[in-house]
Amino acid sequence: MRVIIEKNYEFMSKRAAEIIAEQIREKPDSVLGLATGFTPLGTYKELIGMYKKEGLDFSRVTTFNLDEYYPIPSTHPQSYHYYMQKEFFKHININLDHTYILDGLVKDVKAFCRWYEEEIRKAGGIDLQLLGIGRDGHIGFNEPGSSLGSRTRIKTLDAATIKDNARFFGKKEDVPKYAITMGVGTIMDAKRCLLLASGSDKSKVLTKAIEGPITAQVTASILQMHKDLIVIADEKASRDLKNKDYYQHIEKLTEELKTLTIEE
Ligand code: GLP
Repeated sequence: MRVIIEKNYEFMSKRAAEIIAEQIREKPDSVLGLATGFTPLGTYKELIGMYKKEGLDFSRVTTFNLDEYYPIPSTHPQSYHYYMQKEFFKHININLDHTYILDGLVKDVKAFCRWYEEEIRKAGGIDLQLLGIGRDGHIGFNEPGSSLGSRTRIKTLDAATIKDNARFFGKKEDVPKYAITMGVGTIMDAKRCLLLASGSDKSKVLTKAIEGPITAQVTASILQMHKDLIVIADEKASRDLKNKDYYQHIEKLTEELKTLTIEE
């Protein structure tokens, strides 16, 4: 696990976008796992800027989104379909046929979830999965108690998540009570994971996730077992980390290592 601490949201977003851009430059047909919510908005904005200014090419990229409310039509302004079009896809040269988002109105949920997993597999698996963290420690919509081996399925939302998301829907009663989400196991299958956390209201849960015990009560904590995890937190979100100085020390030395030359 690599923990990078940036001074604010803007720097966190720039750093995340740079990692995603590097992934695409190295492998133009990368498969990206994408997240929604407030946290990745700045990252998408930076990537759009890279497409416009430097021609970062998304034409061969495939994407799979983590989750979607259920039930919700894709035309609903709070659906994750709507979000992805508005905040990212319509601004870049991605082929929309290569963008997969869970269907918020599907009738046969089980068959659909099996199909989604199969499409990820057929695409060669996710190369880089972008993640935010919910205030109850969820990744995707894998609420506390979700099996750490779970696959894509329908989930009942935690009361805390419904309350959190009321800010987008106007009132609590309008927030869908269910979601379809990639499972914790699906996320863990990604070759690399990039977890972002910003703001003081994420500081406690981020500490639990990366420094606490691995528990299904904080599904993000399983990421400690991931073979290639990068966490980028801003100052506020990293406030409660016990090993903050240690992470900063390691990052500094890692940067120095890049310029190290061994004399003949
Ligand atoms: C939702 C999404 C998560 C996201 C979380 C945090 O619950 N399902 O994928 O990480 O919200 O959202 P925010 O980034 O707005 O704090």
